[in-house]
Formats: sequence, structure tokens, C-alpha cells
Amino acid sequence: MSVREEFDEWATAGKDRGMEERHWHTAKHALARMPVETGDTVLDLGTGSGYALRALRERDVGRAYGLDGAPEMARNAREYTDDDQVGFVVGDFDSLPFADDSIDHVWSMEAFYYASDPHSTLREIRRVLKPGGTFYCAVNYYEENRASHAWQENISIDMTRWSREQYREAFRDAGLYVAEQDNVPDREIDVPDESEFPTEDWDTREAMVDRYRTWGTLLTVGVAP
Ligand SMILES: C[S@@+](CC[C@H](N)C(=O)[O-])C[C@H]1O[C@@H](n2cnc3c(N)ncnc32)[C@H](O)[C@@H]1O
Repeated sequence: MSVREEFDEWATAGKDRGMEERHWHTAKHALARMPVETGDTVLDLGTGSGYALRALRERDVGRAYGLDGAPEMARNAREYTDDDQVGFVVGDFDSLPFADDSIDHVWSMEAFYYASDPHSTLREIRRVLKPGGTFYCAVNYYEENRASHAWQENISIDMTRWSREQYREAFRDAGLYVAEQDNVPDREIDVPDESEFPTEDWDTREAMVDRYRTWGTLLTVGVAP
């Protein structure tokens, strides 16, 4: 299945809103760290429902673009806002339809690892960023987060599972300085009492705590020279 087919299905089934709800637990903390200023142009890669752009617009950024490979995702996202400064584009991470040095800050949550060539995507991000611009890359699927490894079995798109160090190396190879790397724990997901395990999704409470409270979301921040 292509990105388009897979995620069009998700959008049609309303999963975009479910992702927004779950990802917001950690995304809001990472978004709050973005050094956006009034009037900045921002880009959200793999925007899904577009919630990150709606949040950034509350901080007075200027033009906000959401790119997604699934037209149904972009269509839904458009319906969730009537803000004329927010625009949605159907496109692929391989080739960003933006001019060199045109974007102040790029955001991506739970999407980067679907890139067919993540190194090339990082070079594209570097190309479109203005000097001093940042890339806030947030992922829950990564090497140290062992519980996430099984996710690949549930989806036909190849996912890139890098470690923390591999993210930093790849950012540097693409010409981005690594300004910060951090784990943002999910403190909002309800972890049931020990007596309720095993649950439908978790064999042990320890594994669930490890996934959400210990590892959570990996945030890597790149800065364009
Ligand atoms: C797991 S969803 C995350 C959506 C949103 N960022 C969130 O936090 O809820 C991944 C999104 O990335 C998009 N996507 C995946 N691979 C892509 C690619 N190569 N190019 C463009 N969009 C892609 C999908 O269509 C989907 O909407």
C-alpha cells in the first residue's frame, strides 16, 4: 500500500482525530519549545488533522503550511479550520514544494519515519529552511522505545527505526546543527493499576510505563546554519 492509500483510509475512518488526541499529550510540550516569532512561516510535515498548525497560529505565526501525502488527510484538515493563513498541500517528503530559504520553522510529529529516503528528506528540510530556522522532529517510533518496534507489523509502508544517535548523525549529515535532543514523556495516558494487567494491549504494567513514561516521544531539534 502507498502512503496515499494507507492514510486516506485512516482519514476516512476518522483516525486523524484519534491521533491528534493521543499525540497532543507530548506534542504540546514540544510545540511550546519552538522559538516561533510573530509572522514566521511554518511548515508541518505529515500534518494529519493539522492540529499543530492551529496551535502555532495561536502564537501569532504568519503563514502556516501543512503537507501530507494523503489527500483525504489534507481535506479533513482543511475542514477543521477556517483560518485563511493556514493552507494544506498534498505532497511527498521526497520533494518539498517550497523555495530555498523560505520557511522559518518546520515541525513534524509521528511522520518523519515514513519518508522513503529520510536522508534526502532532511536535505530537503535544510534547503527550505531560512538560516537560523529550526526543524522540530518528534517521533514515538525509534530504536530505544522497544514497545514501538512491533508497529511495523501493522502497516505496509516501510518505517525507518533510528536510534537517538542515528537521528543526530543524520541531521548533521544533512547540514543541520543538533541544538537539542530530549525524551518527552506522556504523563497523561492512563496507566491502570497493577491488578488490571495483562490488558488487551499490554502484558505488564512495567512495559506500558516504559513505553509512555520513560521513552514517550523522541524530540530532535535541528538548526539550519
Ligand atoms: C501517523 S500520522 C501523524 C499525523 C500528525 N502529525 C499527528 O501527529 O497526528 C502520519 C502522517 O504523515 C503522512 N505521511 C506519511 N508519509 C508521508 C510522506 N512520505 N509524504 C507526505 N506525508 C506523509 C500520512 O499521510 C499521515 O497523515
